[in-house]
Amino acid sequence: MLRTVAKEEHLDELERKYRAEVTEKIAVLKEKRNAIFLVHNYQRDEIQDLADVLGDSLGLARAATRTDKDVIVFCGVHFMAESASILNPEKTVLLPRLDAGCPMADMVTVPELKKMKERFPDAAVVTYVNSSAAVKAESDIVCTSANAVKVVNSLKEKRVIFVPDRNLGRWVAKHTDKEVILWPGYCWTHECLRAADVLAAKKKYPAAEVIAHPECREEVLELADAVLSTSGMVKYAKESKTKTIIVGTEMGLGYRLRKENPDKTFVFPAECLVCPNMKLTTLDSVLHSLENMVHEIRVDEDTRRKANLALTRMLEVV
Ligand code: 13P
Ligand code: SF4
Repeated sequence: MLRTVAKEEHLDELERKYRAEVTEKIAVLKEKRNAIFLVHNYQRDEIQDLADVLGDSLGLARAATRTDKDVIVFCGVHFMAESASILNPEKTVLLPRLDAGCPMADMVTVPELKKMKERFPDAAVVTYVNSSAAVKAESDIVCTSANAVKVVNSLKEKRVIFVPDRNLGRWVAKHTDKEVILWPGYCWTHECLRAADVLAAKKKYPAAEVIAHPECREEVLELADAVLSTSGMVKYAKESKTKTIIVGTEMGLGYRLRKENPDKTFVFPAECLVCPNMKLTTLDSVLHSLENMVHEIRVDEDTRRKANLALTRMLEVV
């Protein structure tokens, strides 16, 4: 037993040393390339520690428009890097892992959306940022989880087609007078959380508050004290007087929540709250990305121009 512990400690020490070496190499290359690191709240702990800006989709899209660096290393998933590139065609946007996608973004295609537009010609198309550039280009306006209600309410049309997340769309429908036509997309990770999981956590921590991401099922959102984007959750956790908070979103957010609120307890009510795509980015892949200037994310100019209109329209609303 003692020998096993000693061996594990040795491995931990080696791992720490390795990480420190890679982090050092990343810092040198970052300087050389004149790069900024935009990091999503779900990334691995050690990637969050690299961040110049750590945030939700909205915060990172805004940060992408404000940087004077030459290179944006986007530690997140493909649609996020694509949005940064659409907003900043003159910058080099790198995604360390090209295979870091978002299954929800793949749940709507341009031909399918065109058909829907033909069925409801009077409706505006509001597209969640978790979507491809081509789908954004077919849309009137983009939204994120932080501003979806405001974006929908800002439109003159009485009807909207909301793509691709049905859970966020349903949540918006409850907070607007407009008619919301839902698309049947969803996030596997958030969909796995059930009301029963939240109720079990509440039973264990009766004084706890519940916060949930709007990608969660309706049955989960009904149990939440607040429904928020990931950065909305960070703010809420800081301001809340409650010491224990049950969190309905991807577990990577726990690192930031605990770091910024060491006196509070954060409970993730289901083991399945992990986005495998967000976990693909590692220190090694970031180093490889900066060494080889890969993978550059670019959108063809016609699509980019149209998608940019829908994205900037959102940034003008909120
Ligand atoms: P946020 O914009 O709230 O960070 O959410 C992004 C996302 O992909 C949630 O699954
Ligand atoms: Fe996409 Fe869900 Fe992962 Fe967010 S958590 S990036 S919606 S798969």
